[in-house]
Amino acid sequence: MNIQARKQRLRQRIIAARDNLTPSLRAHSSKRIVGQICSLAIYKTAQTVLGYLNFGSELASEMWVWQALADGKRVLLPRVNKASKHLELFEVKELASDVAVGAFGIREPSIEKCKHFEALGEIDLILMPGVAFDRKGGRLGYGGGYFDKLLAQLPHLQHVTGEASRLREEARGGHSRTSGLSPTVSCPHRPALIAGAFAMQVVEEIPQESTDHKVDWLITENESIRCTLGRE
Ligand SMILES: Nc1ncnc2c1ncn2[C@@H]1O[C@H](COP(=O)(O)OP(=O)(O)O)[C@@H](O)[C@H]1O
Ligand SMILES: [Mg+2]
Repeated sequence: MNIQARKQRLRQRIIAARDNLTPSLRAHSSKRIVGQICSLAIYKTAQTVLGYLNFGSELASEMWVWQALADGKRVLLPRVNKASKHLELFEVKELASDVAVGAFGIREPSIEKCKHFEALGEIDLILMPGVAFDRKGGRLGYGGGYFDKLLAQLPHLQHVTGEASRLREEARGGHSRTSGLSPTVSCPHRPALIAGAFAMQVVEEIPQESTDHKVDWLITENESIRCTLGRE
């Protein structure tokens, strides 16, 4: 079975199981997960955060978005651009008035009310949606690759190798490696990637492709998992 088929089979299995959780269990677990995310130092210091609004049986990420607004963060939400198959980000100030149901029945920021956000380099933290995760940070989305494509656009998460890497390290005042083969340059401003999910969404291993990005933290109702630092 090829990797896309394996991913699709896993998506169907986990979504069906998640749909079977009772609303009260989902609400209770969501509260714990949101509380855990907000207790992370990386959340406390973050100024600009990207969230999403839950649909179906997902974790109630909306609670986290409310909390981030209440904590005075600059809060961004994505809109699906169906034509380009990419996400566009908008800054929201008030959930009650700035959001309406959009593509795929997902609540999205209103173009009329919200400011388009393009300074991708200023994002400190991203709450990543997903169907399933593994403990090493592997993530399975809904199959559109939307967040993978967004992350590929972020200046901090692009892989810089060889000569470009050496030049960047020199520019940062670091000691350049004479081989010119240093791997991904670490950048102090890259956003933290955090996933919140119910414990039943954690699986042994997510099949990974080269375009898949790993999350740094995986927070469930039972535990906070610091995933490996290696991205690919
Ligand atoms: N950076 C990217 N540029 C172009 N296509 C991408 C990129 N990232 C992902 N894709 C494409 O999106 C599609 C879905 O990716 P996949 O990882 O299976 O979905 P998801 O992340 O939603 O689970 C794949 O065909 C993949 O090649
Ligand atoms: Mg993916």
